[in-house]
Amino acid sequence: RRPLIPYEEIGAEKLSELVDRFYEKVAVHPDLYPIFPNDLTETARKQKQFQTQFLGGPNLFTEEHGHPMMRARHMPFPITPTRAKAWLACMYEAMDDVGLEGTIRDVYYQRLVMTANHMVNRSEEDE
Ligand code: HEM
Repeated sequence: RRPLIPYEEIGAEKLSELVDRFYEKVAVHPDLYPIFPNDLTETARKQKQFQTQFLGGPNLFTEEHGHPMMRARHMPFPITPTRAKAWLACMYEAMDDVGLEGTIRDVYYQRLVMTANHMVNRSEEDE
């Protein structure tokens, strides 16, 4: 069986767990926590909405917040190559934690690598 929609293959429950695990790691990562809010409840809620549509599920993020414009939304935050690597490392570990494996993981992770690199908006020096 070849899944057509990654969101359906992963499932809402596992995706929610993935995002929760991810922000537990962000909250204690030395390169990341300084630029995030102390309370990540709302951030996680928005991220679940975004990842749902990113993976081909319902457009929950756009319905509530409008066009994603992710790079623009990140401009207020200094995102260096180091922070992009840290973000991806937290996601990689979260995927391990929830047991997301195989082709679906590899394809999803590679899309996140591209998106994270696109989000870089400062050099290490300017940070
Ligand atoms: C919001 C950092 C990559 C999706 C944020 C916020 C920060 C941040 C500081 C604001 C949190 C808040 O105020 O609630 C980073 C860093 C990244 C990164 C350091 C490293 C490259 C990504 C990627 C995605 C993403 C790759 C999507 C695949 C989002 C979403 C929000 C968000 C959906 C909420 C936007 C909103 O408030 O409307 N990010 N981010 N981020 N980020 Fe990222």
